Amino acid sequence: MNSALQYNTIYIQNIIDFLESLPDDYADLAIIDPPYNLKVADWDKFKNEQEFLDFSFVWIDLMLQKIKPNGSFYIFNTPYHCALFLHYLRGKAVFQNFITWYKKDGLSYTKKRFLNNQESILFYTMDSKNYYFDCDSIRIPYESTQRMAHAREKGILKNGKRWYPNEKGKLCPDVWEIVSERHKQKVNGKVQKLNHPTPKPKEMIERMIKASSKEGDLVLDLFAGGGTTSMVARELGRNYIGCELNRNYLDSSLEIKEGK
Ligand SMILES: C[S@@+](CC[C@H](N)C(=O)[O-])C[C@H]1O[C@@H](n2cnc3c(N)ncnc32)[C@H](O)[C@@H]1O
Repeated sequence: MNSALQYNTIYIQNIIDFLESLPDDYADLAIIDPPYNLKVADWDKFKNEQEFLDFSFVWIDLMLQKIKPNGSFYIFNTPYHCALFLHYLRGKAVFQNFITWYKKDGLSYTKKRFLNNQESILFYTMDSKNYYFDCDSIRIPYESTQRMAHAREKGILKNGKRWYPNEKGKLCPDVWEIVSERHKQKVNGKVQKLNHPTPKPKEMIERMIKASSKEGDLVLDLFAGGGTTSMVARELGRNYIGCELNRNYLDSSLEIKEGK
């Protein structure tokens, strides 16, 4: 264990060595955006599916030890891999949601089956009851503003009771329609080469951090990439510690250290 770990720092280190260097029961929240084995970059290439899964199961087991007993974690991947991770996680943590990120821009182009328009996110807590979840901080706007304006004044009759809308919006469902960074940063309709090939949208990370942590909590940014999670954690007044192999991906505003 590395006793000199510093908060608000990204360590340039292999995930396995990094996780082994952390104390147990350490973080309130982990946001984990690992390779998907889709071969988008060298770090996303594995000899075969088994090698990918073996690697994934090693970091999953280590990661579980580092989350506090009342903590939470989110794992990104393809729906297929999330299903395998979910199976692996049975009895090890408490399943909360299988979130669908509806991206609109597809992950692949095919005419031989349905187009992949989604990525998945597994949301887990370590305990079934004792965990933090702030549903109000992540409410989303109601779709029909006209209907809501009417409801605000007079209420809507629902099952014999008068219902009034929540001023902060509706509860967040498990399908998230969020435009990918690649699409957001298009110039004249053309996708640009970004510094990192697969950055996650800031608003998506914001939702996870607001829902599952409080100010001053510690967020683990595993497979940090450009450091989206760490930067959002910083903006929201949370502490963070991250790990990434390639220092050139990381935003220059982040404190970076070589892992030991
Ligand atoms: C899907 S990307 C993360 C993107 C990030 N969420 C963002 O918003 O920028 C995965 C990252 O994991 C890093 N990575 C891959 N294998 C790793 C390993 N064994 N240890 C540490 N980092 C690794 C890659 O360099 C890549 O930047």
